[in-house]
Amino acid sequence: MEPLTTSRLVLEPWRERYAADLVRMSSDEKVMRHIGQGVWTPEYAAQRHAAALHHWAQHGFGWRAILDRADRTFLGLAALSWIRDPIPGIGLPAVEIGWWTEPHAWGRGVATEAAAALVDEVFDRIGADLIVARCTPGNVASQRIMGKLAMTRHPHDTLSAYGDLVHVYTLTRPSPS
Ligand SMILES: CC(C)(COP(=O)(O)OP(=O)(O)OC[C@H]1O[C@@H](n2cnc3c(N)ncnc32)[C@H](O)[C@@H]1OP(=O)(O)O)[C@@H](O)C(=O)NCCC(=O)NCCS
Repeated sequence: MEPLTTSRLVLEPWRERYAADLVRMSSDEKVMRHIGQGVWTPEYAAQRHAAALHHWAQHGFGWRAILDRADRTFLGLAALSWIRDPIPGIGLPAVEIGWWTEPHAWGRGVATEAAAALVDEVFDRIGADLIVARCTPGNVASQRIMGKLAMTRHPHDTLSAYGDLVHVYTLTRPSPS
């Protein structure tokens, strides 16, 4: 699978070589402040890394490493995955989208630029009609991104995989004009 390219970024399918980047990011309290139970152990990060590779092998899409287009520096990850467990009021199939960026890259629009490319990938290549994102009520930066992607807040909150109350945002495939 080819990387996606945006004006400043290359979005490369998740590969073995990003295992250490995931361990580093997921052990950073700043990154994990709004994610479930906080920092991950290296063992749990390795499980999630393996699951991300498996999702690609099974479905032909998934997590992508966000790289600086100029010098291929690792800037974070942008994630797509099929939603497996029902969410109240959300019809499946639907694809979940998510984003983590390295703290040194925050505030430059990196997550938004990567996420917008993944939204296009869902509608144009993967062919799903519904995108869902979830975030904790305190994650204002993530909510800003959902707004910039034109996602709208679903009326029902739900619980995350970690048992936290989370807001649910959705984006439906635009009708052809
Ligand atoms: C959320 C996250 C991905 C944002 O990354 P980023 O590359 O800085 O995102 P962008 O620059 O594209 O957009 C962030 C927006 O949030 C705003 N923002 C950032 N921090 C904020 C804060 N503490 N309060 C309010 N708004 C904030 C920015 O101003 C920007 O909005 P704007 O363009 O309207 O000004 C990054 O902070 C992160 O990785 N956090 C930890 C992991 C995480 O929580 N991921 C999301 C899980 S749902």
